Amino acid sequence: MIIQHASWIRMKNAASTVVPVFRKAFRCLRPIQKAVLEVTCAGVYEATLNGGRVGEFILAPGWTEYSKRLQVQSYDITRQLLEDNVLDVCVGNGWFRRTNAPWTRTSNPDEFLPAMLIAALHLEYVDGSEEVILTDETWQASESYITLSGIFLGEDVDATKQRSFEAAEVTEYPKQILIPQEGPEVREQEVIYPRKSFRTPKNEWVIDFGQNLTGYMLFEMDAHAGERLSLSTAEVLDRDGNFYTGNYRSARSQLHYVCREGHQSYKPKLTFFGFRYLRIDEAPEGFSADQIHAIVLHSEMTRTGWLESSDPMLNQLFSNILWSQKGNYLDIPTDCPQRDERYGWTGDGQIFCRAGSYQYDIRQFFKKWLADMRAAQHENGWVPEVIPSLTAYQPGGAGWSDAVTIIPWQLYETYGDVSFISDMYDAMKKWLAYIPTVSTTPDLFTGCWTYGDWLALDWPEGYVPANIEVSKRGYSKDDLVCSAFYANSVSIVIKVGRILGQDVKEYEELLERIKTAYWNRFGDQLQTQTEKVLTLHFGLAKDPQLVADALAKQVRDCGMKLQTGLVGTPYLLHELSRYGHVDIAWSLLLRKEYPGWLYSVSKGATTVWEHWDGIKPDGTFWDDDMNSYNHYAYASVADWVFGVACGIKPLAPGFARVRIEPHPDERLGSLSATLDTVHGRIRSSWKYVEHGIRYEIEVPVEAEIVVGGECRTVGKGKYVFGE
Ligand code: BGC
Repeated sequence: MIIQHASWIRMKNAASTVVPVFRKAFRCLRPIQKAVLEVTCAGVYEATLNGGRVGEFILAPGWTEYSKRLQVQSYDITRQLLEDNVLDVCVGNGWFRRTNAPWTRTSNPDEFLPAMLIAALHLEYVDGSEEVILTDETWQASESYITLSGIFLGEDVDATKQRSFEAAEVTEYPKQILIPQEGPEVREQEVIYPRKSFRTPKNEWVIDFGQNLTGYMLFEMDAHAGERLSLSTAEVLDRDGNFYTGNYRSARSQLHYVCREGHQSYKPKLTFFGFRYLRIDEAPEGFSADQIHAIVLHSEMTRTGWLESSDPMLNQLFSNILWSQKGNYLDIPTDCPQRDERYGWTGDGQIFCRAGSYQYDIRQFFKKWLADMRAAQHENGWVPEVIPSLTAYQPGGAGWSDAVTIIPWQLYETYGDVSFISDMYDAMKKWLAYIPTVSTTPDLFTGCWTYGDWLALDWPEGYVPANIEVSKRGYSKDDLVCSAFYANSVSIVIKVGRILGQDVKEYEELLERIKTAYWNRFGDQLQTQTEKVLTLHFGLAKDPQLVADALAKQVRDCGMKLQTGLVGTPYLLHELSRYGHVDIAWSLLLRKEYPGWLYSVSKGATTVWEHWDGIKPDGTFWDDDMNSYNHYAYASVADWVFGVACGIKPLAPGFARVRIEPHPDERLGSLSATLDTVHGRIRSSWKYVEHGIRYEIEVPVEAEIVVGGECRTVGKGKYVFGE
């Protein structure tokens, strides 16, 4: 990359909060064959050439493990060039110079660095000559009209502000961290128009977009210089119908815009929001709601999965699941897109990865993030709980750090691409090597920090957890959760090692020892639903049928309710179905009361919530402290709908061979799943008709189809069973 020859530049004497615009004016006196701009920054940037945006990448250069990897973008700008050119690059704080939220108890050392830019412009003329323009002290810098910017800060803009350019200065910053762009670009994906505009009981002027989304707002209006447009965002309204922002915590989710004279339009350039509602706190005279709309942002991904049923509530759930993926696959897989977090939580990432890989082609998205995981892994093997990591923040515990094994394995299963597992094999082994160095019991993973079964609902009646932090971790035994995930990671390493032709004897022996130790220690103590689910799912039960029957009984006895949290929920329906309790799995999925997937739908949700009762039956909220309405952990249930309800399972990696074994339930009239795999389209649908069930199945490869208890081996084709 030519950019290696350029110098990092900064604005002279600018505080770290200043959002500068860097400028280079240049002439092209001969006809241009090709012109390419290589650029990146410490922050996030928007580049314009002669007033037109360069490229479509929003929030470039994206978020990576910056201390080791910073992506460089290459844009072909041939068609934008004139004879006299002005290149402007505006650099905001972004994730690089982020303010860590207070709850992390960390500060980001880069927070106090100034905005820095590095760029190289490569011009090839028709006559064969070349010219290279590099960032250096001949570039200029000025404060931009963005007066405040940050991922958690929103954006303040003063469109009347005059810019005054002075020479930029060269500064020292590493260049060995520069790498070519790896991930898909974040781009504007769709436009959502206001559904309605109304006054709340508190007389707030609010616009409802009808969809909780991740992105920003765009407005266009006539105004006088100095008039203001101030907007605040919210995901939900409170019980009385008033605007609610408590769940953003310290994130300032606002846009403040000072107008210039005349006709103008604006959308934030260097930040994003998670919202369904906008409150218009101040507006120029005559402003109306139809002058504003919302723009949805997410990483570029091709849609590959579709679900549809005869039940409008279930269809709304499917839509919510899709929107939670869109909202949280924004350059990195985040936990939520709105509060002062938006981090790449490894646990959430692994929990939703299978469902995510069915709905969209996420190969490139995860290639980049897994490379960041390798870069962030500590020398001693621990994997941080968020990737890119937060400085000095603690290692993730079981279920979170295990993303290092679970995600690559899942991507290999979905896409059949060996590089996912070969790239991560060493990182997986390093994580396994770390565990015995901290565990207090040989062959188990005990005595260590974990988030347990985060947010589970299984505290025994009358038992009062010591504090809210403890209560969030559920009642499942930490040591059991950790040891179960340990066994799972070992078994993934064995499978991967075999595929890669490695000697895995050591891990095979270890797994046997873990299984024995696990059963001896926990076999007669499987209390919570999650304890049973994990024991089953990770193959740790001596007599799985007994454990599964006990699980089914427990769900029934507590009123057909799930009590699982983040780690138990993704596997709960799978394990019930695997051992003959598919009717209970269906009851849980179709349950409309709290706790259940359709409960939030009944409360008007348009994305999946962090808590089963983010809005309680009486209309009050879960604590402000942690109450996201766009969290995809429980959206992982989509993989059960694809894999069990419609019965689409890979028999070979990448669905090179498949098994289709649908599990219909007559409480639902029909269900259909479409999955575009790397080998072609799979469709599995069923419908209750007068005298039974009609199945329509389409497979692009050899398949086993199991309907009505009969297994048939078929070739590529379309098949109909029943009427
Ligand atoms: C996040 C979760 C995450 C958790 C760790 C939360 O604040 O939003 O989804 O996994 O912390 O337990």
